Amino acid sequence: MKLPQAQVAVLQTADADEPRRIDEVADEADLKPEAATRAAFELEADGLVAVTEATLEHYELTAEGRQYVYESLPEQDLYEAAVDAGADEGAVSMGQVIGASGLDGPAVDIALANYNRKGYGAIDSGEITADPDADAGGDSEMFALEAVADGRVEDADDDAISQLERRGLLAVSEETVRSVQLTDDGVTALMGGVGTAETVDRLTPELLTSGEWEDVEFTEYNVAADAEDVPHGKEHILRQTANRVKDTLVGMGFQEMEGPHVDAQFWINDCLFMPQDHPARTHWDQFALSAPDEIDDLPEDLVERVRSAHLEGVGPDGEGYHSPWAEDVARGLDLRGHTTSLSMRYLSGHEIGELEPPERFFSVEKVYRNDTLDPTHLLEFFQIEGWVMAEDLSVRDLMGTFTEFYEQFGITDLEFKPHYNPYTEPSFELFGTHPETGEVVEVGNSGIFREEVLSPLGVDCDVMAWGLSLERLLMLMYGFEDIRDVHGTLCDLDLLRTTEVLH
Ligand code: PHE
Repeated sequence: MKLPQAQVAVLQTADADEPRRIDEVADEADLKPEAATRAAFELEADGLVAVTEATLEHYELTAEGRQYVYESLPEQDLYEAAVDAGADEGAVSMGQVIGASGLDGPAVDIALANYNRKGYGAIDSGEITADPDADAGGDSEMFALEAVADGRVEDADDDAISQLERRGLLAVSEETVRSVQLTDDGVTALMGGVGTAETVDRLTPELLTSGEWEDVEFTEYNVAADAEDVPHGKEHILRQTANRVKDTLVGMGFQEMEGPHVDAQFWINDCLFMPQDHPARTHWDQFALSAPDEIDDLPEDLVERVRSAHLEGVGPDGEGYHSPWAEDVARGLDLRGHTTSLSMRYLSGHEIGELEPPERFFSVEKVYRNDTLDPTHLLEFFQIEGWVMAEDLSVRDLMGTFTEFYEQFGITDLEFKPHYNPYTEPSFELFGTHPETGEVVEVGNSGIFREEVLSPLGVDCDVMAWGLSLERLLMLMYGFEDIRDVHGTLCDLDLLRTTEVLH
């Protein structure tokens, strides 16, 4: 029988009596592990060998685990210090025992938690006792740590091993190991004599030019063989979802708005009937630019109408804020805290001229806020802005639009809560349920623009509008809990790599 060289080598190295690890076979036969694995599968397909798979667990101490092997567990130190202080005869001051134990920093909490768990004694209102019968010297977790360090994990107790893993002292990893064993047919083939067939596994220019390709035997492709898993670049789920949002809104008849990230407060705040002394306009919420710090091309007529709305309100019964309104403030440049600045630019006719109802516009763009970083807040995020200009709109139209929009992303449990915005009346916030934690999460804010906003812009029909968070939408879709999982240096690479690409 003639077989390709790698198969011959594996066949000759494999054993009939017991399975041998393919990596060992490869080593001995001087083959690359992938080549040996491929040859083993090919031999298996011909019934000459059997390939088996086993999962091996590897145990490795973490840096903290190794440190305790050389020293001792913090709870052992605490027990020793407690006994030295007489805590085995009655309660003594915890401060004194901790001081004597030499423990400090996080080690104190670790010691106390495990002392308690292991019943080495009791800790109560600043005092500690030590159980005279406890055997801290023979601690089973310490024994297990030493066993792992010495490569005798089988001596350690299973519970102790899982505690070590839970405490972050031990890392357990799994490896799939394949082994190969000769079958009876394999033994028969070997006894009958196996020669090496002239095979090639790739077509080269030399084979083509020499014409040799006509005589050689090509190895077969094994399309079922495991290939190395090479993490490759792919579209970020945030970008991917932003594009889906855009497609969805375009499908619902919306057009996209564009505009500056740095904009005049006029477009960000004043057009929105936000009084100039509104708390959200302080530097706590928005990032102001120091250079340049002003814009000089505000539309003068609109500035006049906005000023008048702020001072006197609009219409015969109008009420303004009666507080000072300064054009200088309106000219100030900020990083936009919402993309409602774009809505103002478009609705005023400033961007693409006067608009006639019905119109629908949207944007999916970055906004910037001086928030405190936490799992649900960053200094910047993507806002899904949108508005519909039409006659006789109501809250039902808004709710219907959101229901239709979020359904495209599999979110069907929206909740609505009345809210206050200086620029919309009525207003409401939108909530969805986090698929993992079950928590109700705010996903957006919306409403119907007030007369004080629309009248200066020259719009005389209804406009309903919203700002939704793209990142919160993503949280509901993919179930991650920390916005930093998808943004920045703390991002969860595994999530980004393995999340399915949806089209
Ligand atoms: N600007 C609001 C926000 O950032 C969203 C919004 C836009 C609300 C338009 C109502 C109307 O939260």
